[in-house]
Amino acid sequence: MTVSLHLDLGLMLLLLLACWQTPGMVGGTVPAPPVNVSVTQLRAHSAMVTWNVPQGDTVIGYAISQQRQDGLMQRSIREVNTSSRWCVLWDLDEDTHYSVQVQSVGPHGDSPPSRAVHFRTLERTDHYPAGVLDHRECS
Ligand SMILES: *[C@@H]1O[C@H](CO)[C@@H](O)[C@H](O)[C@H]1NC(C)=O
Ligand SMILES: *[C@@H]1O[C@H](CO)[C@@H](O)[C@H](O)[C@H]1NC(C)=O
Repeated sequence: MTVSLHLDLGLMLLLLLACWQTPGMVGGTVPAPPVNVSVTQLRAHSAMVTWNVPQGDTVIGYAISQQRQDGLMQRSIREVNTSSRWCVLWDLDEDTHYSVQVQSVGPHGDSPPSRAVHFRTLERTDHYPAGVLDHRECS
């Protein structure tokens, strides 16, 4: 009686240890942060953020945090079920400093944030050709 109890306990411990040591089984792992984050198509009131995802991680979406350098406004954008590696930020103020960071969303949680990328929107008077941007909005 006592012996079989000890055996069961030993087996449970062994199983626990086995699970503990198998990567990805304990709560799951989160993806690595996005790389090559860059800002393109800079305008007075919008900018496009693009990034790459390191190979080997399962990524189901992204989270972007956008911050005005003066700290007056912060915005978070989160999309899941998407394989997009870009997003257009709208409603920016002209001639203003911002920074963005991107996180990959994995099945078991979000990656740490990428390196922050700083940019400054153009002045309204700056000329640029219209109709180039794809008007997909990230909400
Ligand atoms: C990041 O950019 C570099 C240079 O363009 C490229 O070689 C590399 O493959 C990119 N990383 C990923 C994960 O796509
Ligand atoms: C993701 O897509 C699947 C299949 O289309 C759907 O069942 C699920 O609700 C979606 N999840 C979110 C958070 O939109």
